[in-house]
Amino acid sequence: MAQMEIDWMAVAARWVHVGTAVVLVGGLVFMRFVLAPAAAQLADDAHTKLRELVIARWKRFIHGGIALFLISGFYNYLVVQAPMHKGDKLYHALMGTKILLALVVFFLSSALIGRSKAFAGMRANPKLWQGVIVSLAALIIAISGFAKVALKERPATPAVAVDTSQG
Ligand code: HEM
Repeated sequence: MAQMEIDWMAVAARWVHVGTAVVLVGGLVFMRFVLAPAAAQLADDAHTKLRELVIARWKRFIHGGIALFLISGFYNYLVVQAPMHKGDKLYHALMGTKILLALVVFFLSSALIGRSKAFAGMRANPKLWQGVIVSLAALIIAISGFAKVALKERPATPAVAVDTSQG
């Protein structure tokens, strides 16, 4: 019986990618739906202090997570998946959409934890923007899951057959 070769780099890239999604999206859901409502019960100065402390630590997760997403995501896409999906327009269109949405998520997440005055208005309404990020992340995960399960190694659209039987 032929032995199946395991691509350990692909396994590692997938582990890093899905692990990063679990930690970051899970952390964000916790903040939006558990920590923020609980912290809203605190006095104003205690609330502000807690917010500063949480952001100072969470920042490292966001920056590291974006780097891991990009490295593992592009490796997974360009090296592992692209050769298996040659000519599959739907797959590549979905991946392009996913990458654009991911860039929007990275931008919004960085703006929320940053200090730039340009995004002070956003930081004044964290509930709304955290909700937007969680919703976009849910859409990104849905696209990824669909691509993985429904478009797994689909045969490429067949090229038009050339009839060589007539001179
Ligand atoms: C917010 C950012 C992102 C999230 C939450 C995310 C989440 C995920 C998850 C959960 C999967 C696994 C799907 C499954 O096994 O069912 C996945 C797969 C994948 N992701 Fe991401 N991802 C993000 C960003 C990126 C980026 C920037 C790229 C860059 C190209 C990328 C490329 C891929 C690829 C190629 C797959 C494999 C799809 C397949 O199996 O056909 N992802 N992603």
